[in-house]
Amino acid sequence: MAVERTLSIIKPDATRRDLTGKINACLEDAGLRIVAQKRILLTRARAEGFYAVHKERPFFNDLCDFMSSGPVVVQVLEGEDAIARNRQVMGATNPDEAAGGTIRKQFAENIEANTVHGSDSPENAATEIAYFFDDSEIVG
Ligand code: CMP
Repeated sequence: MAVERTLSIIKPDATRRDLTGKINACLEDAGLRIVAQKRILLTRARAEGFYAVHKERPFFNDLCDFMSSGPVVVQVLEGEDAIARNRQVMGATNPDEAAGGTIRKQFAENIEANTVHGSDSPENAATEIAYFFDDSEIVG
C-alpha cells in the first residue's frame, strides 16, 4: 500500500447543517489525516471549472448552482490508499445506494446534495488538489 493524497470537499448541504466536525471525525476515524483545509465560497465560474469534466451532463448546471450556493470546505486527505479509502468512507454517489455507516448514507440529502466529494483516481487527485491548494498550504 502506498501513502496517497486525495481532494475532499464538504459540500454546501453539509456546511449549512454544521456537519463539518462530524464528517471530519468520520474521515479521521477511517485513517485519513487532514493535511490541508479551508472553508471557501465557490464562484459559479470556479465550480464550473472544477466540474468541467461533467459539462455535457444534464445535471451540470444544477450541480454548479448548488456548489456555489453556500460555503464548502476543501481538504487534502493523506493516508494509506487515501483515494480508495476516502471513497469507501464516503459511500456511493447516490445515498440510496450507499452502504450503512458511510458519510453519504448518514448525511446526504439526495444524489446532488450528497455531502462530500472525493477524487476518483491518482491523476484526478493531483489535478483537483492543485485546483485549490498551493504546495505550501499542505502540511503532512
Ligand atoms: P461528486 O462526487 O462531487 O461528482 C460529481 C457530482 O455530480 C456528484 O458528486 C453528484 O453531486 C453529482 N451527480 C452525479 N450524478 C448525478 C445525477 N444523476 N443527478 C444529479 N447530480 C448528480
